[in-house]
Amino acid sequence: MDTPDEDVLRAALAGLSLPDGTPLVASDRIAGLGVNGSRVNLSILTSAAEAPLLAPLRDEVEARLRRLPGISSAFVVLTAETPATPRAAPPQLGQPKPAAKADPLAGIRHVVAVASGKGGVGKSTTTVNLGLGLAAQGLKVGILDADVYGPSLPTLLGLHGRPQARGRRLVPMQAYGLRAMSMGLLVDAETAMVWRGPMIMSAITQMMADVDWGALDVLLVDMPPGTGDAQLALAQGTRLSGAVIVSTPQDLSLIDARRGIAMFRKVDVPILGIVENMAHFVCPDCGGSHAIFGQGGAQAEAARLGVPFLGAVPLTMDLRAASDAGQPVTARDPDGPLGRIYQQMARSLMADLTPTRRATGPNASDRRLP
Ligand SMILES: Nc1ncnc2c1ncn2[C@@H]1O[C@H](COP(=O)(O)OP(=O)(O)OP(=O)(O)O)[C@@H](O)[C@H]1O
Ligand SMILES: [Mg+2]
Repeated sequence: MDTPDEDVLRAALAGLSLPDGTPLVASDRIAGLGVNGSRVNLSILTSAAEAPLLAPLRDEVEARLRRLPGISSAFVVLTAETPATPRAAPPQLGQPKPAAKADPLAGIRHVVAVASGKGGVGKSTTTVNLGLGLAAQGLKVGILDADVYGPSLPTLLGLHGRPQARGRRLVPMQAYGLRAMSMGLLVDAETAMVWRGPMIMSAITQMMADVDWGALDVLLVDMPPGTGDAQLALAQGTRLSGAVIVSTPQDLSLIDARRGIAMFRKVDVPILGIVENMAHFVCPDCGGSHAIFGQGGAQAEAARLGVPFLGAVPLTMDLRAASDAGQPVTARDPDGPLGRIYQQMARSLMADLTPTRRATGPNASDRRLP
C-alpha cells in the first residue's frame, strides 16, 4: 500500500484548530511531519503553559492520522519550546527544530529499553552492569538515563561535571568505556517535577537526538519507572529493538513487570528478556542463602509468558556498595561472581538481538516478536 505523502497527512488535519482559533495546518506549529514505515511522526510546537490545553488536539491529530490508509500508528508529541532549564547550556536543547533530514540515531545498531513496572527493583543497577557486560564483549555501548525524576547514572558511574557541547550536539560523557548521558546532568530536578507526560517524552527524545552518540552497537535506555503515558510514548517514539524487564521474584513486583511487558507488546516492541534481581540473599555472616523476595518468580514468569530469561542476580552488599561508590561491580571485578552473571546476561541479550536489526523504515514490521 502506498505511503501517504505530506499533502495527504496535512489534509487529514484540516478543520482542526489551535486554542486561539488558528487552523493547525495554517499555523507554523507543525514540525517533523513524516512517515516511517507505517507510523506517522509529528511534533506540535507549544509552550510549557499551553501544552496541557493542547492535549485533546494532540489526541485528535493522532486519531485522524491513524485512520489514514497505509498508517498503523501515529506518534504526536507536544514539544515545549523551553522544556528544560539546562544547567550546562547545552546547544539549543529543547528548541524546536526543523524536520530532521537524517535519523540522528542512525549510527546506533540497537536501542534497547531497560524497564520495570515498579520502582526500586534495580533497573539502573542492571542497566549499568549489563552495559558493562556488553562492553566486555568488545561492543560499543551507550547508556541513556531517561529517568527524569530520579536520575541515578551520575552516581552509578561516578560522573562529574557537565556534558560539553560540540556544535549543536552534546558530547556523551565517558566512564568505564561506556558513553553515558543522563537527564540528571541536563535538567534541574525541580523543572522536571512539573513536566507532564508529553513534555517528558519530548525532552527525552530530544535528548537522545541531541547527543552525538557516534557509532554504537547498543544504546541502553534506563526507562522511567512505571507504565504510564510517558513510558508508552517513549516506547513508541524511539525505534526500540526491544526491551529488557527487570523484576524481583516477589509477586507484587511481578504484577507490575507483567504490566510493563503488556505495554511493550501493545506497541510491538519485542521483549528481549527478563532479569530477576535480588533473587536471593547470601548472608555474609552465616553463609546461608535466603530468598527474601521469594524464589524463581521472575524465571517462572518468563517461562509462562514465553519470553527469554536472562539471568538471576543475588542481593548482595558488594553490589550495593560498588554502585554507591560509582564503581559498578562489573567494572571493578568483571570476572567475579557478579561480573560473570552480568557478562552472561549480556551474551544472552546479544543472542536475542542478533536476528533483529533496529527497525528502520519499511522493515519495521519485520521485527521478531517473542
Ligand atoms: N542485586 C542487588 N543487591 C543489592 N543491592 C541492590 C541490588 N540491585 C539493586 N540494589 C540497590 O537497590 C537500590 C535500588 O536500585 P536501582 O537504583 O538500580 O533501582 P531502580 O529500579 O533503578 O530504582 P528507581 O525506580 O528509583 O529508578 C540501590 O541502592 C541499589 O544499589
Ligand atoms: Mg533507576
